[in-house]
Amino acid sequence: MPPASPASTETAQTPLLRFEGLCKSFGDLTVLDGLDLDIMRGDTTVVLGPSGSGKSVLLKHAVGLLTPDAGRVYFDNERVDNLREHDWWPIRTRIGFLFQMAALFDSMTVRENLAFPLREHTSMSRRERDDAARLALSRVDLEGVEDTHPAQLSGGQRKRVGLARAIILEPELILYDEPTTGLDPLRAAGIDALINRLKDDMGITSLVVTHDLVSAERVGDRAVLLWDGKVRAQGQLNALRSSDDPVVKGFMTANEGGVTTLRALNAAEGELAP
Ligand SMILES: Nc1ncnc2c1ncn2[C@@H]1O[C@H](COP(=O)(O)OP(=O)(O)OP(=O)(O)O)[C@@H](O)[C@H]1O
Ligand SMILES: [Mg+2]
Repeated sequence: MPPASPASTETAQTPLLRFEGLCKSFGDLTVLDGLDLDIMRGDTTVVLGPSGSGKSVLLKHAVGLLTPDAGRVYFDNERVDNLREHDWWPIRTRIGFLFQMAALFDSMTVRENLAFPLREHTSMSRRERDDAARLALSRVDLEGVEDTHPAQLSGGQRKRVGLARAIILEPELILYDEPTTGLDPLRAAGIDALINRLKDDMGITSLVVTHDLVSAERVGDRAVLLWDGKVRAQGQLNALRSSDDPVVKGFMTANEGGVTTLRALNAAEGELAP
């Protein structure tokens, strides 16, 4: 299959996804506060940040599940934050979303879960949908589970089904919300390998939210740290690790063990206090 990335150099150099001055509050809680971020084509960008810093909220703005209070979102040079629900549909066929909790329908079989986006977005026949489901499952190394219900699968298998559903429309961009959380190290490494393979085989651009720096290292071309509603730092993971910014350094150190400790984060903030 040809890579989904565009041929012209002009489009190749423009971001596939752009957040510009994004602001989002829920009541008194300001989550995003003028966030700017470009996601370049073909890259895997890892999004880091403490729990509650707005990582999932950011992803949801990329597919119109949330609307910003201010600022803009562009997908493939088209402004999308102001689209009506109906106009989001063609955009959503181009973006796969692996939700934080896999978000499968427990009442449906794996095959029906996978067929769901195909029924919504394509005019495929039943046989074509079944073939597409089989292909998507083989891409995530999970075959022969079509007739199973998600509740009968392990956590790692459910993530794979979620991933198969995210790629079934052959998207250009995949948003991964904590793809390895809750998995043992071996299964986490397996999911990371899949993320890399999808990028290599399908030319997919990815935005990966993770708490796991080992995983970030394996998949990320670059990393972004969300802090106080903005992008605090971006670049290669190593550059973030050796940052002079005490907040960035504090976050990276606190997360080396895989867990963000409040004490470490408070210490980082304390260093900033006058
Ligand atoms: N629909 C909503 N209504 C009200 N508050 C919300 C909504 N969605 C998110 N929030 C709040 O916004 C903040 C950021 O949430 P978000 O889910 O983006 O955090 P996160 O960075 O993904 O955290 P985690 O690492 O725990 O998944 C949280 O305080 C959350 O409670
Ligand atoms: Mg989240």
